[in-house]
Amino acid sequence: MEHNYSCSRDVNCLAALLLAALCLGAAVVARGQLTDDFYDDCCPQAEDIVKARVSAAMKAEARMGASLLRLHFHDCFVNGCDGSILLDGSNSEKLAGPNLNSARGFEVVDAIKADLEKACPGVVSCADVLALAAKYGVLLSGGPDYDVLLGRRDGLVANQSGANSNLPGPFDPISDIIKKFRDVGLNTTDVVVLSGGHTIGRGRCTLFSNRLSNFSATSSVDPTLDSSLASSLQALCRGGDGNQTAALDAGSADAFDNHYFQNLLSQKGLLSSDQGLFSGAGANATKALVQLYGANSERFLCDFGRSMVKMGNILPLTGSAGQIRKNCRAVN
Ligand code: HEM
Ligand SMILES: *[C@@H]1O[C@H](CO)[C@@H](O)[C@H](O)[C@H]1NC(C)=O
Ligand SMILES: *[C@@H]1O[C@H](CO)[C@@H](O)[C@H](O)[C@H]1NC(C)=O
Ligand SMILES: *[C@@H]1O[C@H](CO)[C@@H](O)[C@H](O)[C@H]1NC(C)=O
Ligand SMILES: *[C@@H]1O[C@H](CO)[C@@H](O)[C@H](O)[C@H]1NC(C)=O
Ligand SMILES: *[C@@H]1O[C@H](CO)[C@@H](O)[C@H](O)[C@H]1NC(C)=O
Repeated sequence: MEHNYSCSRDVNCLAALLLAALCLGAAVVARGQLTDDFYDDCCPQAEDIVKARVSAAMKAEARMGASLLRLHFHDCFVNGCDGSILLDGSNSEKLAGPNLNSARGFEVVDAIKADLEKACPGVVSCADVLALAAKYGVLLSGGPDYDVLLGRRDGLVANQSGANSNLPGPFDPISDIIKKFRDVGLNTTDVVVLSGGHTIGRGRCTLFSNRLSNFSATSSVDPTLDSSLASSLQALCRGGDGNQTAALDAGSADAFDNHYFQNLLSQKGLLSSDQGLFSGAGANATKALVQLYGANSERFLCDFGRSMVKMGNILPLTGSAGQIRKNCRAVN
């Protein structure tokens, strides 16, 4: 039994190596470009495997689609889309301010990767798992069905200080946020469109209660926050430890739609960095786009897919750079 089992494993390993070589070949032919058919020869079932796991996870908790979308974003802004956010360890990006007690979905990624390793060992990168999981998180929330580009390989290091410096924060002025996007090759349109990712998901009180009163008053401190939303947020956050969560898109928390932008038009953004795209002195370059996307849902959904592809193209490792991790939490 033992012997037969290891023989059949060897056959599988050989097949996987040949298939991995095909993938490498595809990457070389494409001269380091990502492609939408990267796994068609070597793991044609990859997308279905990811979709099934994301779908199951979202049936258990609709929010998981949002959490997976955010993981891809937080991966791409630090050393490019290289799966670095998934690495465990003392220099882990998971321990950086923007991710600590905040980034979630790692167990879902592990489950997807385990399925992929069974079906096509050593073939599908963790960075691509994140890109695919984000795509299906968006799609299964009702968002656009964009062609995700694939063929990324996995980085060898996490970069905690990079995560602390590159990721935008909710208290950053809009000008700083625009600069952080520009630093990774994304422009002001991308800032507004991709902020629309906040059409799904949740934010913790600790990240927006600066906008509320001191909790003994009913009015908001922040004049760009709708007063009835402020009251309900105060009630939510009052007396808590800051970990209670509110919908980023009040009114349609789990639906991927343009309601996020309509909220900004009526001062119902949750984070300062959301409302700041429309209100206040820093909104010059972004305000008209918020109005456009608030009025035109098709335009938002279409542009969102385009900007996601652009974000997914931040410094990908291709060809023979990096590796295909077996376990997303550790280098091989
Ligand atoms: C523009 C600058 C951005 C800032 C300042 C920002 C900030 C935040 C903050 C503070 C949270 C809540 C975290 C927590 O409660 O622990 C959050 C959640 C989220 N962000 Fe962003 N974000 C930005 C851009 C983006 C982009 C570009 C995307 C994706 C395209 C995105 C997707 C999400 C999602 C989906 C959630 C909810 C996650 C969940 O419910 O688990 N954000 N963001
Ligand atoms: C970490 O990220 C910062 C900011 O992007 C970058 O300057 C630095 O080179 C990165 N360090 C490593 C070890 O990748
Ligand atoms: C941002 O880049 C896209 C193409 O990726 C372009 O269509 C758009 O006009 C640019 N926006 C700005 C404000 O430069
Ligand atoms: C809280 O807000 C109320 C009403 O604005 C104000 O009278 C009170 O002094 C504030 N308390 C503190 C501790 O800031
Ligand atoms: C939130 O939860 C985390 C993890 O359980 C805990 O460490 C933290 O102290 C809590 N409070 C705040 C304000 O983050
Ligand atoms: C924003 O608009 C104001 C008034 O129209 C103008 O004075 C200012 O230079 C603009 N700022 C930016 C960053 O475009």
